[in-house]
Amino acid sequence: MVVSQERLASEVGAQVLREGGTAVDAAVATAFALAVVHPAAGNLGGGGFLLSRPASGQPTFLDFRETAPAGAHPRMWLKEGVYDEKLHHESLASVGVPGTVAGLRRAWQREGRLPWARLLNPAIRLAREGFVLSEHQAASLGKQLPEFRRHGPTLAQFSRSGEPLRAGDRLVQRELARTLLRLSRNWSDFYRGETARLILRDMRASGGLITGADLRAYRPRWRDVLRGTYRGVEVLAAPPPSSGGQVLIQALNVLEGYDLRAAGSGSPQALHLAAEALRRAFADRAQHLGDPAFNPGIPMARLLSKAYAAELRATIPLDRASVSAPDRFAWTRDRPDTTHLSVLDRKGNAVSLTYTLEDSYGLKRIVPGAGFLLNNELGDFNAGPGLTDAMGLIGTAPNLAQPGKRPLSSMCPVILVKEGAVFMVAGSPGGRTIPSTVLGTVLGVVDFDLDARAAVDALRFHHQWLPDQLQVERGLPAAVKEALQAMGHALTFVKQQGCAQVILVRNGLVEGAADTKRWPDSGVAVASAKAERQPQRPLITHRNALVATNFKQAERSFNR
Ligand code: GLY
Repeated sequence: MVVSQERLASEVGAQVLREGGTAVDAAVATAFALAVVHPAAGNLGGGGFLLSRPASGQPTFLDFRETAPAGAHPRMWLKEGVYDEKLHHESLASVGVPGTVAGLRRAWQREGRLPWARLLNPAIRLAREGFVLSEHQAASLGKQLPEFRRHGPTLAQFSRSGEPLRAGDRLVQRELARTLLRLSRNWSDFYRGETARLILRDMRASGGLITGADLRAYRPRWRDVLRGTYRGVEVLAAPPPSSGGQVLIQALNVLEGYDLRAAGSGSPQALHLAAEALRRAFADRAQHLGDPAFNPGIPMARLLSKAYAAELRATIPLDRASVSAPDRFAWTRDRPDTTHLSVLDRKGNAVSLTYTLEDSYGLKRIVPGAGFLLNNELGDFNAGPGLTDAMGLIGTAPNLAQPGKRPLSSMCPVILVKEGAVFMVAGSPGGRTIPSTVLGTVLGVVDFDLDARAAVDALRFHHQWLPDQLQVERGLPAAVKEALQAMGHALTFVKQQGCAQVILVRNGLVEGAADTKRWPDSGVAVASAKAERQPQRPLITHRNALVATNFKQAERSFNR
């Protein structure tokens, strides 16, 4: 089963599984395909995290987050002593040394089985021959056209001679195809070869900071998986430099002390308690989290302990909202893009992969001659020392820019394990809302017994300590809204939050559910089982896929 934000990419991954590839093989091929068919967040020029849980049991976590170049420093976002938001988020200085290519290669070296070039070939073909744009792909590219116009090579790649591409048009990316072909022959071309030369030429010509030494020094890092439990289910999640696992596990620990099932899915009480748990987890995130190489003292064991959760629960009033104290810390600006894919192969190996360019289309600027977009990930660093203010800047030390440092992330790939086997694989884009979106899907499955589809479709919520607001997707029933307001929650409404891709294994079925909240024609789950060879025929619809792992049990659950 492969679930990703784009049909063509999910199909690439499913075909790899059909050919006997591992979950990591499928994740690598899907990620390269997303770099072509989902340029908003799929990438070669960004970074991310890959959580793998082989059926044999020992999970691994690969951090291929971007790093700050050697020229970075804590005050790099100041111009004549004043914070400059454009410099922080929209300049060549905001580009981190990309980690995606090195990360996918390292993961494949450890757990891949099919030849490396086989995994890149579908992406090369999609870039060279092009693919037909769907409604949402054309709309997404069209929305960015004013930005693309600021850089000729980017405009040339993503438009038809400056005119918007339409649904039904073919997007051909020849330079990207050539880059992928070079990487299929020699992955290190990205860091030491022709691709590196093209990156460095652009950096020199346009005032970027990345040097050849920065590229050569880039290394993905294996990290200890962050572990928790929730109502008897083991939770495997992302450690720093992501905050995703800390926020998720801490919130789950707090919520474990309440009977959410009795409160009911989407009830004012359940939403209130989830918001209060998130409020506290996000406060700790702001205080403690950053790249562990620069923050050796993160008190993770305490933050994730059940005892600390009990202390936090004691501060939560059951009938009214707490107040976030704004004098402690505030927040830097945050962007809602990134993308996630979930994979489960027939042996039970699971991969949960989230990667990003930071903004939608990153810096909105390709590397001329190489055809891939640059990230603006260093926007995830804090603004500058002591710059915390009431307007939302943050200047606390753990996440200030420094050479070689990885900016703090919110990405939250997770795998849940029950009775020794993978139970759920999930993740989402959405900037700081990511752990909240993932929390909602976990509560849906564990507390409210939802299937994968219903867990993905459930109304989403988010609280991040500051600003002191409970964000909810539109569609909250009026009675729930009034009850939450009566408790003192300041509600804000968004059309949709995140884009979750979920796999669930239960009742003898593997359920895949892709998210279509953001774009009704995007997000596809593909089951890889060969219908002609196996009795367990995959049932594939636009958004869902099902495979029976245990036909009798599945039949029983359908009959029920
Ligand atoms: N750039 C999004 C994140 O890392 O959280």
